[in-house]
Amino acid sequence: MKITIIGTGYVGLVSGICFASLGHDVACIDKDESKINTLNQGEIPIYEPGLKEMLAKCVETQKITFSTDLKSALNGSKAVFIAVGTPQDQDGSADLSYVLSAAKEITEIAPNPCLIVTKSTVPVGTAAKIKAIASEKGFLVASNPEFLREGNAIQDFMEPDRIVIGVDNEESDAILSEIYAKFPAQKLVKTDTKTAELTKYAANSFLATKISFINEIADLCQETGADIKKLAHAIGLDSRIGEKFLNPGPGFGGSCFPKDILAITSIASDHNVNLSLINSVIASNKTRQADIANKIAANLAPNAIIALLGLAFKANTDDIRYSPALNIAQNLLQKGLKIKATDPQAIKNAQNHLKNAQNIEFYPDFYDAIAGSDLILIATEWQDYQNLDFNKVKTLTDARKIVDLRNLFDAKFVENHGFEYDFIGKKHD
Ligand code: UGA
Repeated sequence: MKITIIGTGYVGLVSGICFASLGHDVACIDKDESKINTLNQGEIPIYEPGLKEMLAKCVETQKITFSTDLKSALNGSKAVFIAVGTPQDQDGSADLSYVLSAAKEITEIAPNPCLIVTKSTVPVGTAAKIKAIASEKGFLVASNPEFLREGNAIQDFMEPDRIVIGVDNEESDAILSEIYAKFPAQKLVKTDTKTAELTKYAANSFLATKISFINEIADLCQETGADIKKLAHAIGLDSRIGEKFLNPGPGFGGSCFPKDILAITSIASDHNVNLSLINSVIASNKTRQADIANKIAANLAPNAIIALLGLAFKANTDDIRYSPALNIAQNLLQKGLKIKATDPQAIKNAQNHLKNAQNIEFYPDFYDAIAGSDLILIATEWQDYQNLDFNKVKTLTDARKIVDLRNLFDAKFVENHGFEYDFIGKKHD
């Protein structure tokens, strides 16, 4: 089927390339000409494992094109997916202006009416707003939220737990069912558009809640002397709880959870519903990084040098949006501490973000960041750091203290190498 995707950000690009690899003819559209030029040269503007290789195959089979010309792309397209940004407005609500202007533009220039599908995370009632613009011109509207994770995006798209299809009539249902025909039918959850829209926010809110829950339990382990790793494993074995997303850490970040939990509370307050649980999650996550930075600084000399391992908001991405690592770094810099920072993929983005910051230097090789430091702070769970060579570290610095915000190691193993090891949930005397 001929499909157009508007927006070549994470969601749009991964969806476009995956749809093309499933055999659809995909036209990816973006207003940003330089991004389109990059993509036309076979380069991917983001770091996502496997995506570049997948794109090369789709280009070879001529299943995908990139351009700024929406009108030509829409010619013959049966469906157009809107995957543009829904940034956070000042009051925490999702700013729908890019979504609605894309929908309006489609209805004004499309040579033929088609199905307009929102893939971006949009508040309940967005499909109804688009319908108000589009349905009298013969366009159909549906919601098909995306659940992919950065760093794992291809697998999440190609082997999804479920595909949520929000449709309000049979024609829309038939088009989306055809688009997803290669997936097992039982993976398709068909709902109305409102339910699909809210499902996305509910899923992200639940996951964020699970993380804040385990973070608070880790804090309790720290005070009581219980073992957070064993506890998380033990509760996770209960299939009603599940083992995933029970890793304590520096708080959740990224472009989705922090934004989406604010947006759902904004949606709720518009409907006079009080989401007190989710409000508590927001509060719990908000102070976590400042608290961690305070604790670290309290145990260091005023101008100590910290080797910061990890800048991305999590491993396997170059994304630094709402990165706990960067937030902690900024807190530490404000306290006058010096940072030698490293990350396998996110240095360029972090440098841009911190371009006016003093006392921070960036090192592509993490052993160079460690050299001469007073403390090793692990903030992102990259595989490279999990393979840290402790004997090599000893030759590079006299520092014998590791603060691990991702609980990567067995405590005894690190201590046997002669290091003091501090991790999330460790009991303090
Ligand atoms: C998240 C969701 O997991 C996706 O399903 C969703 O599609 C996406 O948002 C979105 O709305 O677009 P993502 O932000 O890429 O995906 O990253 P996650 O892997 O969910 O991690 C989010 C944050 O939670 C990170 O800061 C991560 O370090 C933290 N986290 C995750 C923990 O602290 N502990 C965990 O056990 C898991």
